[in-house]
Amino acid sequence: MQSQFFASKMTSLPSSPSLNKTQFISDPKTSFFIIPISNNAKKTNLFSLKMKKKGFPVVAMAAAGAAAAEKKRYPGEGKGFVEEMRFVAMKLHTKDQAKEGEKEANKTPLPKWEPSIEGYLKFLVDSKLVYDTLERIVDKADFPEYAEFRNTGLERSEALAKDLAWLKEQGHSIPEPSQPGLNYSAYLEELSKNDPQAFICHFYNTYFAHSAGGRMIGRKVAEKVLNGKELEFYKWDGDLSQLLQSVREKLNIVAENWTREEKNHCLEETEKSFKHSGEILRLILS
Ligand code: HEM
Repeated sequence: MQSQFFASKMTSLPSSPSLNKTQFISDPKTSFFIIPISNNAKKTNLFSLKMKKKGFPVVAMAAAGAAAAEKKRYPGEGKGFVEEMRFVAMKLHTKDQAKEGEKEANKTPLPKWEPSIEGYLKFLVDSKLVYDTLERIVDKADFPEYAEFRNTGLERSEALAKDLAWLKEQGHSIPEPSQPGLNYSAYLEELSKNDPQAFICHFYNTYFAHSAGGRMIGRKVAEKVLNGKELEFYKWDGDLSQLLQSVREKLNIVAENWTREEKNHCLEETEKSFKHSGEILRLILS
């Protein structure tokens, strides 16, 4: 593992926009943005033209064209791979979920969003199953790079165990895990054994989504069904932005060893991460 770290952009939690049912049920389906930003063909032609004027031989022009093609940049690439993953993830939000979102919110009027405590319990139970799975996978480290992500301080499994114990003490009955959590957990187990790039995409999206939109959702739901009580799920030991930054640096280093194809494969998995997490989020409304 290389020792050099790369700083990437820190993001702060924005003020809470109001959430409605539409935002929870939006389901990204369209294709991706894994397209180089620069229009290389155009650049190469312009470059060739300038060289022609200066009387460079054709061979030199062809070499310059190849070099320009190699330099194509992907959105966020200059800041490290996490910024690329973030770019793809942000586009999959609806405009009302996050400023950078590009998905249209469902226009069909839906009943006002109302979480239920039963639904929220299902969400917490399934979330715990997913975090248990992610944390077991990095502890086991079938691929050596997973070991980098042990004890990052972002772990959520113990916090959720405390919350569920507290909710039980309050007289709530804690449900068994339901299909969205069971499906996602099984999918993660499978991926982790044979597709490390895809697995890392889920790892990034799950922990970082929870630190951003997840916290906003938690606050909104707590106001409605828990008298504003802040659960352990939304508390971290230490400074959250520092914990996130340290994980960003590790992710950037791990991805440095990946080919462009492997990076693209990781980015393409973002949609599945949204699909599975979206199903678990929707439990809040069930
Ligand atoms: C109702 C659902 C959601 C809401 C309201 C929401 C909202 C947000 C907001 C406000 C941000 C911060 C944007 C910023 O930095 O300016 C954010 C970041 C992010 N969200 Fe979501 N989100 C939702 C669902 C999801 C889902 C399902 C995923 C993927 C599993 C996801 C992945 C991410 C990621 C990776 C970031 C970037 C975090 C960072 O840069 O540290 N979000 N989201």
